[in-house]
Amino acid sequence: MITVFGSINIDLVCRTAHLPRPGETVPGSDYELIPGGKGANQALAARRAGASVRMVGAVGGDDMAAIALAELERDGVDLGALVRRGPTTGMAVITVDSHAENTIVLSPGANARLKASDLDAVRPGAGDTLLLQMEVPFAESLAAARAARAAGARVLLSIAPFLPIEREALAEADIILVNETEAADLARHLGLPVGSGGAETVATLSGALGCAVIATLGAEGAVAASEGATIAVPALEVVPVDTTGAGDTFAGVLAALLDQGESLETALQFAAAAGSLSCTKAGAQPSFPRRAAIEEALAGAPSFP
Ligand code: RIB
Ligand code: NA
Repeated sequence: MITVFGSINIDLVCRTAHLPRPGETVPGSDYELIPGGKGANQALAARRAGASVRMVGAVGGDDMAAIALAELERDGVDLGALVRRGPTTGMAVITVDSHAENTIVLSPGANARLKASDLDAVRPGAGDTLLLQMEVPFAESLAAARAARAAGARVLLSIAPFLPIEREALAEADIILVNETEAADLARHLGLPVGSGGAETVATLSGALGCAVIATLGAEGAVAASEGATIAVPALEVVPVDTTGAGDTFAGVLAALLDQGESLETALQFAAAAGSLSCTKAGAQPSFPRRAAIEEALAGAPSFP
């Protein structure tokens, strides 16, 4: 069983030919309201990969809450421990230009009001997985990690968006997930050398922190370093349409496969393939693949036996 303790957002997306400069007004497309938030995204990706998933998060008293929860509900993510707090649901105001470059203004709303104690009644135990990101107050995530670990659960921490976390807090994670930029930021923050490639940096981080470190490398796939060994897996060859949430897909699917007892290598292959597939469709949550689609893509990929 996977418990996600994290953010739930509405992504308000508007496309435009070019991103506005300060003071400039540019014409945009019809807006879209798409369920998002790194916590909810990871929960949904894990669920679609076949895991049992509980989402512990907070939404506001506004009409956005129902939209934000729609996909989670439809796919059967357990929302029994969800809380309603304050007037507004988290919102990411996203502008995307014709080159798929984007800007995001993140309004935390209810996410800022999530408490570690919201996990008390449904705390993960031995054999369970707790999945964390950085869009709810980190002190609460850290307390949640400590409680879950004390109860025997495995803790996966996705350091997205990057924040300079203390070493002592990083020690509460069994697996740390980053993208290439976050890997370099984390290495610099810890006073470690940044390698010439993602593989070098994750190996350095894993050695220094004494836990598994996994980095997504976009079109290059992903690399994991654990106990002195590194494993690299390729991405699928796809034509990307929208990469929003690709990292979340990776994190959720990785957690799902590990929770099901699969090896790190198999989990990485599934996660990298799922991340690639999510880039072929617009938006975050609507683009996350189901397990059958991931298996089919892996079976058909030339780089996989
Ligand atoms: O990782 C993608 C997510 O980050 C989006 O869904 C958006 O909500 C932002 O928080
Ligand atoms: Na997508």
